Amino acid sequence: MQSSAIRAQFIQFFQQKGHQHQIAAPIVNKEDPSLLFVNAGMNPFKDIILGYQPIQTARVVSAQPCLRVSGKHNDLEVVGVDGYHHTLFEMLGNWSFGDYFKEAAIQWAWELLTEVYQLPKERLYVTTFAGDPEDNLPEDKETAAIWRNYLPPTHILPFAKKDNFWEMGTQGPCGPCSEIHIDIRPEATRQSIAAAQLVNQENPQVLEVWNLVFMQYNRKNSGKLVELPHKHIDTGMGLERLAMVLQGKMATYDTDIFTPLIQAIEKISGKAYADSTATAAAMRVIADHLRAVAFAIADGALPAATKVGYVVRRILRRAIRYGYSYLAIEEPFIYQLVAPLVAQMGDAYPNLRVQQTTIEEIIQTEEKAFLKTLAAGLQRLHYLNPQGTLAGKVAFELYDSYGFPLDLTKLIAKEKNLILDEAGFEVALQAQQARSQQDAAVTYGDWHQLQPGVTTRFVGYDQLTATTSIVQWRSLTDKRGKRYQLVLAVTPFYPAGGGQVADKGSIHCGTESIAVLDVQKEHGLLIHTVDRLPDPIEGTLAACVDEPSRKETAANHTATHLLQAALRALLGKQLSQKGSLVTASALRFDFTHVAKLTAAQIEAIEAMVNAKIRANIPCLEQRDLPLETAKARGAQALFGEKYAAEVRVITFDEKFSMELCGGTHVKTTGEIGFFKIIRETAIGSGIRRIEALTARNAAEFVNQELTKLVTLSTLLRQPKDIVKVVERLLHEKKQLEKQCQAYETHIIQQVTQQLSVEVEQVGDAYLLIQTVILPHLDALRQVAFQFKARYKKIFIVLATELSHKAQLLILRSEALAATCNAHLLMQSIAPLIEGKGGGQPFVATAGGSNPAAIPVALQMARQLFLDASLAT
Ligand code: SER
Repeated sequence: MQSSAIRAQFIQFFQQKGHQHQIAAPIVNKEDPSLLFVNAGMNPFKDIILGYQPIQTARVVSAQPCLRVSGKHNDLEVVGVDGYHHTLFEMLGNWSFGDYFKEAAIQWAWELLTEVYQLPKERLYVTTFAGDPEDNLPEDKETAAIWRNYLPPTHILPFAKKDNFWEMGTQGPCGPCSEIHIDIRPEATRQSIAAAQLVNQENPQVLEVWNLVFMQYNRKNSGKLVELPHKHIDTGMGLERLAMVLQGKMATYDTDIFTPLIQAIEKISGKAYADSTATAAAMRVIADHLRAVAFAIADGALPAATKVGYVVRRILRRAIRYGYSYLAIEEPFIYQLVAPLVAQMGDAYPNLRVQQTTIEEIIQTEEKAFLKTLAAGLQRLHYLNPQGTLAGKVAFELYDSYGFPLDLTKLIAKEKNLILDEAGFEVALQAQQARSQQDAAVTYGDWHQLQPGVTTRFVGYDQLTATTSIVQWRSLTDKRGKRYQLVLAVTPFYPAGGGQVADKGSIHCGTESIAVLDVQKEHGLLIHTVDRLPDPIEGTLAACVDEPSRKETAANHTATHLLQAALRALLGKQLSQKGSLVTASALRFDFTHVAKLTAAQIEAIEAMVNAKIRANIPCLEQRDLPLETAKARGAQALFGEKYAAEVRVITFDEKFSMELCGGTHVKTTGEIGFFKIIRETAIGSGIRRIEALTARNAAEFVNQELTKLVTLSTLLRQPKDIVKVVERLLHEKKQLEKQCQAYETHIIQQVTQQLSVEVEQVGDAYLLIQTVILPHLDALRQVAFQFKARYKKIFIVLATELSHKAQLLILRSEALAATCNAHLLMQSIAPLIEGKGGGQPFVATAGGSNPAAIPVALQMARQLFLDASLAT
């Protein structure tokens, strides 16, 4: 059975049991600071499980790509080593939110596995939670009893917390779980040892396929468990493993999910998957990592130096190194695997297909960049040839200068049987980061509930002030000190999101006014940060958004929409948004486009946006439009954004600009006044950035530029055509430089000629010790080197006075190496001209502030040389 059919059957089975199919969420987490990537199918439902959001649909089914590369669930290092671990995998899951519990979850899991997928019952084993004294949790006897309806007791095995208590991270939703394992060993081996003994023993042929979690608790920051408001079911089954079992394979990499990728790698590398263990492992790693990187890029996470982007970079560079070291591929090639991936997954994940070219370009550029330093870095490691330990500072140098992520260096160290001094690396890294350390630890106090059960109402689209009260509050402490965070019953404050910054403003309580420093959306809560609490804390407050900055921000946000529409109209519809930043003072828009924009293109874009501004188009705001209707009407959506079933759509002339957007906008485009692009740059492969201003800021910018022009014109005596005048000046400058050069060459020749008669012979050596007039130290050097070329054994000291400073140069032939060290000699005479100097044994220079002492210095140099000659 093909993997696409396996996925479809899973979804269909649960749909028949009353579950609603939920489209996969983007794998990049935006609203959860505790987790960079979705690492389990339940992540998108975390707020519902924790009770932050009301339960709207009690039964849900989904296929969710998950990435396990950091934090509590991290499989990065085992990928490729065995045949069934992955960074990115698809999790098939069914959920009950406060609806059915253990009995139905187990019954349906059994029905699906044994009747639909027809797995042999006698090969299935299940585990249950054995209880935990530390958390004071009892053994889950209930689950074991339910399983006895389906399996003999020898197939039901209790395990401790490590295996049978599932937690999303160090904090968050958790609960006891029951895993279903399968024994896929060939019949002959099965007789030798009972499968029950191999469960949870990392045996590749007795492995977990499905995890049923009974979500009952929330683990707090402090480590304490608190009961959740409702009991939920969260299940997760890896599609890749299930496909392996159903397709009768011994490795996930041999299923139809991976074979097209492995075959493509075989073709590119000219090596066969079966060639050697190392070749096979490298191909598995590359195929796995390519999937992770492609999904991440499709969801908007591009390789970069920080945060989510750095994780993507680490994974991709790891794959590049495997290709380079084990498959001998020294050219970019991973990008070529995007096509077979899209062929395999594009139907289930259309985002991949739509963005294929962008993904290819981004991967190829990163490959090119890293291949440039990879060879040098590997060589550095090779020549270093360390024994036993790889020093932390070397790992840091590789990281800092060659772009080797630490885990890559660690992997290479392991291959060379070296122990990496990770602590040393950390010390070096921290020393470098000390200046820019902003991520100081933040600690939060517990929430104090003043109005339990009250949810926030956001009224900021319609009004800028609201009468409100505090629902809950907590403290926040970081290196800037202690502040407070408030959730209000009603709020007009727009929280940072969708590229737009948070509203500024204040909260009034009696005569007291408290500034709102920040507003963030976290787990569906709107959190206002303030530096003190109102007194009294319970009671009515007035929340007021600062109107001028809201208006400027709105002008910039609308301008961003007009800019996107103009770009698509002028450069083509394939162009898509890759990010944006909208503040009160400026806007920034990142988009996919291969080439730098020409001046004419920028002018045309500005002209189109400004025409739309002058047309004074009204803003059409539609709230609660079904997502599918909005998309069908052609509304622009952002790749990698998680949209609700009902969305807000902002339109400025239906034929021009229609976008899914939660931001704040002007009422009519005329309010923007004026739009001006101030910069256009590349920020990555195939990604360009436009920075622009609107309204007052745009006018000020243009005025400042004009003022500069007026100043220039005045300096140039107000010519008619200032551009021509500057061109002429530059041309003249070039001519003068050429003349100067010719003149200098002439002087150097002349001085050389004059000096020829000053060379004296002492024994078998020649001496040239003279003061000359030359324009710079380099000219002195050129003259000296001409004499060095003429005589086999010459000692030269030249001096000149330049801008009231003395300059000295000593140069000697190789044949005088035993007699004179120019560097040491210069150190002895430089103090005479009140200067410092030195160089190498054969040439040295010095500069000093006392030119009057030049004759003495020359005399001394002569004497020291002669004394040394006598001595040798
Ligand atoms: N959350 C559980 C897991 O990741 C079940 O979906 O295994």
